[in-house]
This record gives sequence, C-alpha cells and structure tokens, in this order.
Amino acid sequence: MIELRNLSKTYSTRGVEHTALEDVSLTIEDGDIFGIIGISGAGKSTLVRCINLLEKPTSGSVVIDGVDVTSFEGRQLSDLRATIGMIFQDFNLFAQRTVLENVTFPLEIRGDDRVDRERRGMELLDLVGLSAKAKQYPSQLSGGQQQRVSIARALANHPRVILCDEATSALDSLTTNSVLKLLRQINREMGVTMVVITHEIGVVEKICNRVAVIDGSRIVEQGSAAEVLEDPSADVTRRLLGRVRWDA
Ligand SMILES: Nc1ncnc2c1ncn2[C@@H]1O[C@H](COP(=O)(O)OP(=O)(O)OP(=O)(O)O)[C@@H](O)[C@H]1O
Ligand SMILES: [Mg+2]
Repeated sequence: MIELRNLSKTYSTRGVEHTALEDVSLTIEDGDIFGIIGISGAGKSTLVRCINLLEKPTSGSVVIDGVDVTSFEGRQLSDLRATIGMIFQDFNLFAQRTVLENVTFPLEIRGDDRVDRERRGMELLDLVGLSAKAKQYPSQLSGGQQQRVSIARALANHPRVILCDEATSALDSLTTNSVLKLLRQINREMGVTMVVITHEIGVVEKICNRVAVIDGSRIVEQGSAAEVLEDPSADVTRRLLGRVRWDA
C-alpha cells in the first residue's frame, strides 16, 4: 500500500516560488490500477515523481507498507526504487542499445551475469510479444513496440508497482488500447500495482479501478473509477468527460 499524506511540493526558481502540489493525500492499495487525471500543469508528473522520491516533497510524507520512506537516502532509496518501475510518454529507451540490452539494463546495473540477464530479458520480451525484435534497435520499432520494450524493462527487477506517466499519450487509439491491455494483463497476472497518470479520461474508463482528479495542485475528487465517471463532482472532471461545452 502506498499512502501520500498531506504532500506538498514547492519549486523555487531564481527566488520565485511555485506550488506544484498542495496537501495531497491518497491511498493506493496493492493490486489497484490507480488513475491520476488532470489537465496540463495540474501537478501529475510532480505527484508521481514524489512516489519514488525522484522529487523530494517540501512537506508531508510518502508511506509504503506502513514505513515512512520520505527521508530515505543512499542504499535504502535505491533498494526502494528497485521495487518501483517507471514508464514514460517518450519511452526513454537507449538508442545505442538493442531491444534486449534495453530490457536487461536494470539487471546489468544490479550486477546479474550475462546468461541470467539474457534469459530474463527474453522471457520479458516474450511476455510483451517482441522476442523477434530482440536484436533490433529502438529506432527500428514503432512507438507502440517501443513502449512495450519500456514496459518489459520496467518489469525486469520484479517491481511491485509500475508508475506510468502518460504512457499512451504519444500513441494512436488502437495502439493505446493494446498497451492498456498489456498493463491490465500484467496487473492481473503478476499482481503489479499500476499508477496511471493521464489527461485522457478514456484511459481511466478502460483500465482504472480507482481515480484521483488533480486540478491546480490539489486533489479535487477521488474514489472508485466507476463512481467518479458516473457522477463527477468537480468541474474539471465534467470538462474532461466532455459534459461541459468546450467553449463554455
Ligand atoms: N523542476 C521544476 N521546477 C520548477 N517548476 C516546475 C518543475 N517541474 C514542474 N514545475 C511546475 O509545476 C507545475 C506542475 O507541473 P507537472 O509537470 O507536475 O504538471 P503535469 O500535470 O504533469 O503537466 P503535463 O500534463 O503537461 O505533463 C507546473 O506549473 C510546472 O511548471
Ligand atoms: Mg506531466
């Protein structure tokens, strides 16, 4: 279980302060596919980066399985991060490495020997349906295929949680569906908790069981995805659902 308790984050740029998160509290249960939705600049990426402490919260805490990890550093922090995979909108693959070498990169860092990591890498490529592409380079793959490679890489360390920051935003709708299906399959079959950041309400409709809506640095509503989509209370949620005329 991941709990964010009264989390705030203020960036200070050349003396000018900007609050990106204000008093955010939410609980992500094991096995959830938890959506965090909001418009551009709402604070979504900041929020997800606080979960694995790529950003240090200004105040409040991140509690994982009852342990306050907010001030973890060094070895403790790297051990924690190894249990949390992350995927991004622009895939973040290494252009100079083959598909297989991308997937095995976390295992190389961990010091696994070549035979073990290649075995695990091929297993993961098989899972995402890309074993035939193992020797190719990312530039030789389509966007959807590249995202599958980054999902395989995120799984290499057997994470309990995968953080997805706009993982499907660069993909067309059919490719989006196939990537979402893969995420749901990984959630169901491997029990990996998913935190899905998105600005597309369709992503929440398709795979999330819970959702939090963020607007202007604050959580404006949260609950079961079915309930929030059925009966949204926040103005921004109604707008994202298209229930308000776009020019109103
Ligand atoms: N490193 C930083 N330094 C200063 N301000 C930042 C930094 N990162 C984000 N911000 C600001 O914090 C606010 C929230 O940014 P964030 O990236 O979390 O939004 P987002 O919801 O992910 O937006 P998008 O949908 O466009 O990705 C924005 O106003 C942004 O300018
Ligand atoms: Mg973002």
